[in-house]
Amino acid sequence: MKKIKIVETASYVPQKIVTNDELSQIMETSDEWISTRTGIKQRHISLGENTSDLCLHVAQELLEKSGWAPESLDLLLVATMSPDSYTPATAALVQGKLQAKNALAFDISAACSGFIYGLKVAEKFLQQGSTKRVMLIGGEVLSKVIDWSDRTSAVLFGDGAAGALLESKTSGDSDFLGASLHTFGEFGDKLEAGKTEAISTFPNLKEHYIRAFSMSGRDVYTFATHRVPESIEEAVSKAALTLDDIDYFVLHQANSRIVTQIAKKLAQPLTKFPLNIAEYGNTSAASVPLLLDELVTQGKIKRGVKIALSGFGGGLTVGTQVIKY
Ligand code: ACO
Repeated sequence: MKKIKIVETASYVPQKIVTNDELSQIMETSDEWISTRTGIKQRHISLGENTSDLCLHVAQELLEKSGWAPESLDLLLVATMSPDSYTPATAALVQGKLQAKNALAFDISAACSGFIYGLKVAEKFLQQGSTKRVMLIGGEVLSKVIDWSDRTSAVLFGDGAAGALLESKTSGDSDFLGASLHTFGEFGDKLEAGKTEAISTFPNLKEHYIRAFSMSGRDVYTFATHRVPESIEEAVSKAALTLDDIDYFVLHQANSRIVTQIAKKLAQPLTKFPLNIAEYGNTSAASVPLLLDELVTQGKIKRGVKIALSGFGGGLTVGTQVIKY
């Protein structure tokens, strides 16, 4: 079985920052409500840059850091719930602009678990056949998708992109130690974005219905605080480790209270659960790699450190990948 190495990480967020106080000037909310309920203080909002643009920045930085040529990529994956369009895939747009002409490119739709699902797809490709080099990016421009008239969800989200380069190797240990992924499609209506409806008459040239964001926050909260600890325990056990062996739990940044509850359920110290939600809000598929890249850049995550990467969200989905960085 081929081994997998995580080669580089990179991230990019749009320049424009919107604080809680600024939001409270356009909707019935307050910094106090948002901070205490979620831990969010601000978010980055894209003005003019679409999802593929954010991802392209990440892709270019990954190539620069690694010294890899674009044509050496075999697979380019973008995890997103806010693609530029139904088709072409955002990954295909990035592949084209990057001139990664040998890379197969497609998107992964698993909302905030997208990066973890992407790691699984990458692992499968790298373990078989001729795929040697994979670029995986989680990227979102949620500001174009969310319903800005709904204060219960609008205050939660931000834009950004981050990703990693993965490579197969024939010797040494694998950086991928164990995983747990589950989908609960029966709860699909708990979090929806960009929902379409079939036309009701034919021919019909006028009716184009796309619904913006809707979420049952309480249900997603309950789902996360139950399913994420289970997923982490399953992945850690598959990696033949104990929770105490894990140095960092890099969790999807949806709500700092969710992270605190998960730490409590796992009986692990909060210091092992880094947070950056205050600065970025919930960036969905970008959130886990954004935090991972931040910790690597700050020197907090060094080679050899064991990490549980875990995401949850629309689908509903949940996924954990245990890695040795
Ligand atoms: N500002 C001020 N007041 C607000 C706001 C706001 N932005 N939003 C809601 N309120 C009010 C409500 O109207 C309600 O008022 P009422 O009691 O008078 O009716 C009150 O605050 C409490 O509202 P709740 O919805 O009960 O607040 P709760 O404590 O449940 O927090 C939250 C809401 C933050 C959304 C929480 O449920 C949560 O974090 N859920 C998880 C969501 C999540 O993780 N989503 C991401 C999934 S990832 C993905 O796939 C994209």
